[in-house]
Amino acid sequence: MIRLHDVSKTYYPRGRGDGAVTALRHADLHVPRGEIHGVIGLSGAGKSTLIRCVNLLERPTTGTVTVDGQELTALSGAALNQARHRIGMIFQHFNLLTSRTVFANVSLPLELMGMKRAAIRERVLPLLDLVGLADKADQYPAQLSGGQKQRVAIARALASRPKVLLCDEATSALDPHTTGSILELLRDINQQLGLTILLITHEMEVVKSICHRVSLISDGELVEEADVGDFFTAPRTRLGRDFLNAFLELEPPRALIERLEETPGPHSHPVVRLAFSGDAVSTPLVSRLARECGVDVSILQAKVESIQDRTLGLMIAELMGPAEKTREALDYLESHDLQVEVLGHVQRDD
Ligand SMILES: Nc1ncnc2c1ncn2[C@@H]1O[C@H](COP(=O)(O)OP(=O)(O)OP(=O)(O)O)[C@@H](O)[C@H]1O
Ligand SMILES: [Mg+2]
Repeated sequence: MIRLHDVSKTYYPRGRGDGAVTALRHADLHVPRGEIHGVIGLSGAGKSTLIRCVNLLERPTTGTVTVDGQELTALSGAALNQARHRIGMIFQHFNLLTSRTVFANVSLPLELMGMKRAAIRERVLPLLDLVGLADKADQYPAQLSGGQKQRVAIARALASRPKVLLCDEATSALDPHTTGSILELLRDINQQLGLTILLITHEMEVVKSICHRVSLISDGELVEEADVGDFFTAPRTRLGRDFLNAFLELEPPRALIERLEETPGPHSHPVVRLAFSGDAVSTPLVSRLARECGVDVSILQAKVESIQDRTLGLMIAELMGPAEKTREALDYLESHDLQVEVLGHVQRDD
């Protein structure tokens, strides 16, 4: 439904000369019909640039953008405007017109398309119902909460019956509870209308709760793409692991971090982060390590998370024993479908 091929975007804030900023580099992305795809990255990574290239709010410097089989980068003027009706967009700060009522905000795109008043009413009232604002049609944005404003923006984005909804940090200005209710609404829309959703966010919670697939953007490059369940169990890049660990708040105690050495010493023990999913979650791993490898496991932190339909176990542990035994234990863990990351080695005098 959405296909970006080798899309790059360079900004020239001071004209073609110095000060050029390349915000997106050779991005390839495919979002199939009906998928909710999240793009996560740090501030300044190029997320907004990427999503704005999808509806050509920013024209890519190079590369092609195809939405619903139509190559947008080949269009301009009226043809491009027409094609944009199939793409709705919502923003972090809602972008409502304060002088218009809720009804009139949602009507606006239809008025611009030249639709008749009666037809507009027929289209808008069910949309207000869908987003749960049927009783707010005559109110003004100033009378609404943040969550309600975003609902108006969603109804407006859906007015032209788009195939695709783009969400640029749509919940970043909302509290966690309201965020949850907006995400639920997006999930409903995805299911009821079969709408394809591309959203960008810096929050793992958003990815975890509604996305099917996720891409990671860093310094203008898409560096990793995975099913959400896979990403949360085994991110493949350093940045992916950083996002996950920060989200799970799973770090070794500070006092231990300070003592961690990169290379093993004569009497050191590896400190490892283990992630396990599926069958491994219910396996009595720690006792097996002790029994089969002769290594004691000192658990420093552990938790179990539910990621959509999967269960993910996480643990930070020190493997205590002689070097050859702990080496064996690491091999044992790796051969049992666990994600093992050695965080460092801690020197023990005993
Ligand atoms: N119109 C512009 N002119 C010049 N540079 C720009 C423009 N828009 C964005 N940039 C630059 O492009 C880079 C990527 O910006 P972008 O807004 O896409 O990042 P982002 O990931 O959305 O960040 P945030 O999370 O803060 O919204 C940044 O270095 C930014 O300064
Ligand atoms: Mg942004």
